[in-house]
Amino acid sequence: MFNFFYFLLLFHLLQAQAQALTSPADVSALKAFKSSIKPSSIPSWSCLASWDFAADPCAVPRRTHFICGVSCSPDATRVTQITLDPVGYSGQLTPLISRLTQLTTLDLSDNYFFGPIPSSISSLRNLQTLTLKSNSFSGSIPDSLTTLKSLESLDLSHNSMSGNLPKNLNSLSSLRRLDLSYNKLTGFLPKLPFNLLELALRGNSLSGYISKSAFDGLNQLEVVELSVNSFSGTLGAWFFLLPSLQQVDLANNSLTGVEISKPAGGNSDLVAVNLGFNKIAGNVPSNFAGYPMLSSLSLRYNRLRGAIPLGYSKKKTLRRLFLDGNFLIGIPPAEFFAGDTAVTGSLGDNCLRGCPGNSELCSPRQKSNAICKQAYGGKLRS
Ligand SMILES: *[C@@H]1O[C@H](CO)[C@@H](O)[C@H](O)[C@H]1NC(C)=O
Repeated sequence: MFNFFYFLLLFHLLQAQAQALTSPADVSALKAFKSSIKPSSIPSWSCLASWDFAADPCAVPRRTHFICGVSCSPDATRVTQITLDPVGYSGQLTPLISRLTQLTTLDLSDNYFFGPIPSSISSLRNLQTLTLKSNSFSGSIPDSLTTLKSLESLDLSHNSMSGNLPKNLNSLSSLRRLDLSYNKLTGFLPKLPFNLLELALRGNSLSGYISKSAFDGLNQLEVVELSVNSFSGTLGAWFFLLPSLQQVDLANNSLTGVEISKPAGGNSDLVAVNLGFNKIAGNVPSNFAGYPMLSSLSLRYNRLRGAIPLGYSKKKTLRRLFLDGNFLIGIPPAEFFAGDTAVTGSLGDNCLRGCPGNSELCSPRQKSNAICKQAYGGKLRS
């Protein structure tokens, strides 16, 4: 008798699970999400094509309906992830996305979404990953986005976002990875989220100084990609002392100077630095040689003068060195051309003497005497 009762109960529970009961707010949000995408951009074999609301979105098993693109909570009541396939869906992101309050991942990468990122996205309190890369989103980054305390990864790269970076960007206290590269962002760097590991803002029109206050307390920052912008001024000595720094790309900006001190206690994880295509004047900074892991250094196409620091040629970790396109003088250290040297790169297009023409390091050839003399006010000895 009892056994039969339990059997019935179990049967009903299982059946309820199979039918599932996705919360009505989530179902209506999914419907709104799908209906703001142009039907003609939904291939018949795609994830979105399988979103047929005759069935419950979270019901398992999913053999015919909601086959992919959406995940639910274990009790099948709430939508927790939307990860679309990159098939060229075109449409807007509906503001009603805000109803999916248990969403932890929204990934619409490599499609043709356009229009603004709705500011109602700030209702997604549990959102950890927001990836809208390689679409056609435009407008400014909504300020409200900075209230998403759970957000760990934000990737809006390769869109047409414009305007300034949100002033309160540093309120994103869980953010580890920020990629806003290849947009049309302007203005200065605000104070950055202090838990960042990776900062990528390549290919925008950001300007002003790379200021210490923006990077204050970023003790975990490992990767900084700010190339192809309009940053100017002198990069202060504090920058390369950020304690976790590994890779830095500041190429193609308008920096005019760089200050570098030796790493604190001789410890640094810095591996790669690219400062090429700026307007950096002065001598080649010899202190780079004091960074124990440094393996790739580019200072190409700047306005550097003087001799190549001897420390560079004695640095065993250095594998790639680009100093071409400056006004360097003197004779390059012989170590660079020793038979077993592993350094590749270029010392070409400078004012060096005795750079062995048979070494790849010496290509392209040096600047003409006339240009070099002019650069040194006629005082260049040759
Ligand atoms: C940097 O600038 C140089 C010179 O203008 C250009 O040839 C190069 O393509 C630029 N690099 C990038 C990544 O835009």
